[in-house]
Amino acid sequence: MNNNKLHALFNDKLIWITGASSGIGEQLCYDLSKLGARLILSARRSDELERVKNACAQPDKHLILPLDMLQEADIIAAADKVNSQFGAVDYLFNNAGITQRSLINETETDIYRKVMELNYFAQVTLTRQVLPGMLARGEGHIVTTSSIAGLIGIPYRSAYCSSKHAIIGFMDSLRSEVHDKGLRVTTLCPGFVRTNIIETARREGTAQEKVEDTVIKNGMSVEAAIAQVLDAVANEKEQVVIAEGKEGMGPIIKRFFPSIIYKMVRKMALT
Ligand SMILES: NC(=O)c1ccc[n+]([C@@H]2O[C@H](COP(=O)([O-])OP(=O)(O)OC[C@H]3O[C@@H](n4cnc5c(N)ncnc54)[C@H](OP(=O)(O)O)[C@@H]3O)[C@@H](O)[C@H]2O)c1
Repeated sequence: MNNNKLHALFNDKLIWITGASSGIGEQLCYDLSKLGARLILSARRSDELERVKNACAQPDKHLILPLDMLQEADIIAAADKVNSQFGAVDYLFNNAGITQRSLINETETDIYRKVMELNYFAQVTLTRQVLPGMLARGEGHIVTTSSIAGLIGIPYRSAYCSSKHAIIGFMDSLRSEVHDKGLRVTTLCPGFVRTNIIETARREGTAQEKVEDTVIKNGMSVEAAIAQVLDAVANEKEQVVIAEGKEGMGPIIKRFFPSIIYKMVRKMALT
């Protein structure tokens, strides 16, 4: 979709982006700001949110709302604030997330709980908080960053893959319930994108120090990823794989030739 059409769609729209302090969420802020959107930027680190806001094309149209999404009460309080101050948002980008790197055999249950808490329960909680306002207005668009790892289970990321599969199921159910009420639900399934995702996971204790991030370093640029994201959202796609080249073929191969994909993932390096 060309830039004029994107501008017409997103200009002055109220858009809440979680995970806005880094990576995919950060680039979303830059591109949506250029398109004239009013943004609410959430993540935990307020200094990083300020940095992103100030680097946006129209910082005066944006506000930061620091939030720890591992705390359910924080999510509810933040949503109450947004709902009472602005009413329903036009778009919610459920993008905050954390990865994990370790063998199942070496992964404690608390890691599974932490990854599931952020990548699944927090998204469910925030979505449920914005839903009544969108339903009352009869419009609104919920966009959630899952992953190709939400479509194909791969080694070394069992907690991450489980959480990203789970959120796809939730969003599929949500879409089926709200489509006829005017709401749209888009699930993003990116492949590897060059962001700080491994550093974040190391900081959070869900990836071991020794883990290499070669696949992420060789991933697509965040700018290219967001161009595909905005196109998918503007076209109201239900679910979209965000990838370049043959990486994007994985889900199709799994659907039609599942044994081939199971063989391929068995051979994946543990990085
Ligand atoms: N990069 C990839 O290859 C890739 C591929 C597929 C899907 N994804 C998904 O894309 C999304 C963004 O990831 P990214 O690659 O941009 O990674 P990133 O650079 O590490 O960004 C993660 C974001 O989530 C926020 N976050 C982490 N824990 C949080 C918490 N407890 N409460 C609130 N916010 C929290 C971080 O901010 P603070 O630390 O400031 O809180 C940061 O803004 C994630 O859902 C990820 O799973 C990434």
